[in-house]
Amino acid sequence: MTDPAQQVQELTERMARLEEELMRAQRLSSVGALASSITHEFNNILTTVINYAKMGLRHPDEATRTKALDRILTASQRAAKITTGMLSYARSTSSRIEPQDLKRLLEDVLVLVQKDLQMHRITVDLQAADNVWAMANSSQIQQLLMNLIVNARQAMKEAGRLRLIVRDNPDEGWAELIVADNGCGIPQDKLPRIFESFYTTKTPDERGQGGTGLGLAVCLKIVESHHGRIRVESEVGRGTTFTLRLPRSESPAGFISTAAPVRAGVR
Ligand SMILES: Nc1ncnc2c1ncn2[C@@H]1O[C@H](COP(=O)(O)OP(=O)(O)OP(=O)(O)O)[C@@H](O)[C@H]1O
Ligand SMILES: [Mg+2]
Repeated sequence: MTDPAQQVQELTERMARLEEELMRAQRLSSVGALASSITHEFNNILTTVINYAKMGLRHPDEATRTKALDRILTASQRAAKITTGMLSYARSTSSRIEPQDLKRLLEDVLVLVQKDLQMHRITVDLQAADNVWAMANSSQIQQLLMNLIVNARQAMKEAGRLRLIVRDNPDEGWAELIVADNGCGIPQDKLPRIFESFYTTKTPDERGQGGTGLGLAVCLKIVESHHGRIRVESEVGRGTTFTLRLPRSESPAGFISTAAPVRAGVR
C-alpha cells in the first residue's frame, strides 16, 4: 500500500493537471464563441482582395494598379494579424509570469473580439494608459479579458457601450484593468454565485456555444494564481463593472518609457 502522504501528493498533481486542461479547453471554447464573427471578417477581407485584384486587372495604368495592390496588401495584413492572434491565443501554454504591458495585452484581445462587438453595434470606449506594467502571464490575462468582454457583449445584446480602462495605481501597488458594460446587470442575490464553476443563466446558442458557466470560474483561478484581486459591481438594468487588480511592475529594462520624461533640475 502506498503511504497517505504519497497519495495526497499524487492527487494534488493530478488535480493541477486537470485544472490546466480545463483552462485550455475553456480557452478554446472562447475562441469558438468568436468563430462566426471572424468568419464574417474574413469574408469581408476576401471581398476586398477580390474586388481590388479585378480592378487592377481591368485598369492597367500604374496609378490604379498601385492603389489596388496597396489595398490588397493592407487587407491581407489585417487577415494575417487575426490568424496570428488566434493561433497564439489558442496554442499558448507557457505559465511564466513576467512584466507585461497591459495596454498591449488588451489590444491583442481586441483584434479578436472587435468584429463581434461591431456586429452587435457595440461602441468601445477605450481609455488605456501607456506604460502600465503588471506581473502577468500574458495568455492567461488575455483569456480572462476575453471572458469578461464576451460576457459584457452578451449582457448588452445590441447597441451597448463597453468601457475598457487600463490604469496604474502605484500608491497601492496595483496595475488595474476595468471592463464595464451598460447591459442587463446581475441581481444582488445572484452576484455571490457568478464565480462558481458551472453557474450560468445562459442557454447554449444555435451552435451549442456558450453557457457552460466556466468563464468566470476560470477568471477567478487566473486572478488567484497572479495574487491579484477581482471585484464586481452591478445594478440590474444599468450594467456591470469588473475591476481587476494585478501586482504592478516597473517597465523592464530595455523598454522605453512613453511617460513624460522628467527634466533635469525639475523636482
Ligand atoms: N457582464 C455581465 N453582465 C451580466 N451578467 C453577467 C456578466 N458577466 C457574467 N454574468 C453572469 O454570470 C454568469 C456566469 O458567467 P460565466 O462567464 O462564468 O459563464 P457563462 O457566460 O454563463 O458561460 P460561458 O462563459 O461558458 O459562455 C452568467 O451566466 C451571467 O448570468
Ligand atoms: Mg462567460
